[in-house]
Amino acid sequence: MKLIIKNDYNEMSAWTANHIATAINNHKEARPFVLGLPTGSSPIGTYKKLIEMNKAGLVSFKNVVTFNMDEYVGLPREHDQSYWYFMHDNFFNHIDIPAENINILNGMAEDLEAECQRYEEKIASYGGIDLFLGGSGVDGHIAFNEPYTSLSSRTGVRALTEDTLIVNSRFFDNDPNKVPKTALSVGVGTVCDSKQVLLVINGHAKARALRNCVEGGVSHACTISALQMHPDGIIACDEAACGELMVDTYKYFKEIYKDEI
Ligand code: GLP
Repeated sequence: MKLIIKNDYNEMSAWTANHIATAINNHKEARPFVLGLPTGSSPIGTYKKLIEMNKAGLVSFKNVVTFNMDEYVGLPREHDQSYWYFMHDNFFNHIDIPAENINILNGMAEDLEAECQRYEEKIASYGGIDLFLGGSGVDGHIAFNEPYTSLSSRTGVRALTEDTLIVNSRFFDNDPNKVPKTALSVGVGTVCDSKQVLLVINGHAKARALRNCVEGGVSHACTISALQMHPDGIIACDEAACGELMVDTYKYFKEIYKDEI
């Protein structure tokens, strides 16, 4: 696992956007580049930089197919807290990606299990995901794979923990009762099947998650720790998120990956 430590959120976001743009530009095959994407506040800076780069002609998304990580069950697309809405508002509406290249789980599907199965099959039809960008919950969850979700899980219906309902209530009038209690989510196994996985982790609130992921053992209690088993796992973080790392761990990563692109 690589841990790329940047001074602040802006530098972390710029590094991440540049890494993604470089991967897309280095992709010389005719088949599309397949990119997994998250929602959340963590990737917003990355999306802003990618939009700037797209407008400046430094990267194009015309031959990129995207798969989003997750979606609330029961929120229509037009709901301003649906992940469909978030992704269009913060990213897709501002870049040159063809609409038919965008894949987002449908949390309004009549048969949710069939929707999840369809999603897995569609990912497989493209030969898998080239790069999956992700974030982390404060408890170290990836997508909506809450603590104690199997590290080999596939796309499915997930119940959200009380902690996540409380954290996400900031978007629902600060009322946890208004947050949907279930979501569709790619599995930890789905993410880890990707050729490369890149997580953005920033801020003091994520320091415990980062420590558990980097210094703890692989554990379903912290589903991002599955990254330890991935052959090409990367975390881009800021200084604030490093607050609970051991000094030696911090120094090691700061030195060894200081020139990483
Ligand atoms: C939700 C999403 C995750 C995201 C997490 C953290 O739980 N399902 O994919 O990583 O929130 O969000 P934020 O970046 O806003 O802290």
